[in-house]
Amino acid sequence: MSEAITILGGRGMLGSDLARGMAQGGYSVQALDLPEFDLTKSKDLARALDGAQVVVNCAAFTNVDQAETQFATALAVNGQAVGALGTLAKERGVFVVHISTDFVFDGRLDRPYTETDPPCPINAYGRSKLEGERALQRAGGAYVIMRVQWSYGRHGANFITKIVERARTGAELKVVADQVGAPTWTVDMAGAIERLIRGRREGLYHFANTGYASRFEVARAIAQELNLPAKITPCASEAFPTPATRPKNSRFNTAKIQAILDRPIRSWQEALAEFLQNAPA
Ligand SMILES: NC(=O)c1ccc[n+]([C@@H]2O[C@H](COP(=O)([O-])OP(=O)(O)OC[C@H]3O[C@@H](n4cnc5c(N)ncnc54)[C@H](OP(=O)(O)O)[C@@H]3O)[C@@H](O)[C@H]2O)c1
Repeated sequence: MSEAITILGGRGMLGSDLARGMAQGGYSVQALDLPEFDLTKSKDLARALDGAQVVVNCAAFTNVDQAETQFATALAVNGQAVGALGTLAKERGVFVVHISTDFVFDGRLDRPYTETDPPCPINAYGRSKLEGERALQRAGGAYVIMRVQWSYGRHGANFITKIVERARTGAELKVVADQVGAPTWTVDMAGAIERLIRGRREGLYHFANTGYASRFEVARAIAQELNLPAKITPCASEAFPTPATRPKNSRFNTAKIQAILDRPIRSWQEALAEFLQNAPA
């Protein structure tokens, strides 16, 4: 019999690709999202876990800048609700996969972050997500947390799709050159999550496509791949002040998760090229 997986945030950018991937992999998938499912409501949580063997939490308050002024809401969704999910899942013997973020770090380290590096968030969103990790750990059930960074996918606004849209207009683009990470496709994240579920891996893992680049280098790679004539110039983060400060170093060391995966993680260039080749014109 196929395993029953409930995906919370199942119509978001990651959740939708995960739901498709898991269904194709033979799992029995229930994908829930606002408005019919609210992570902060205990009745909704209880219903979501009915009959589930595994729950994957992709639901989150993801607007990083809004979190600065709506911290109580961000904390309720990204922090307290994750603790409630952990408690209920423990009672019911459900395995929890929770998605977290590089924004738990301040980005000041001069090397890629490992799972043992101490978190130190520099914005409200990061603080709310760190509280979610801790609340899930405190709940004491069986869980795995997979942190991701610089996500892109078909279903949602993200850095890659914004650059594609703007580069297609032929406008001159200024892109920050002092934030470094690895653009990572939600489809590749979904594959890693499936492996964590299949092996019932517990603990904390960092996942990203391999290699690193600045946002400026990524934008240039996009224009090149799509043969767009956009003029792209580098600038500093200070040229685009935002309510929330972003970490400059989002690089992840992925050795721990690589050791349990069935195949080598793809480079960011390879994954991005495949995504762009199939991007709507
Ligand atoms: N995108 C990135 O670059 C990035 C980087 C690092 C980590 N992450 C993490 O990756 C995970 C997946 O995010 P994503 O990129 O797929 O973002 P997303 O597209 O914004 O997905 C989040 C989903 O959660 C839903 N949601 C928000 N509040 C909810 C609530 N109270 N109850 C139920 N659902 C709720 C959202 O619905 P609405 O759209 O209706 O609000 C949305 O469908 C999150 O944990 C996020 O923190 C993302």
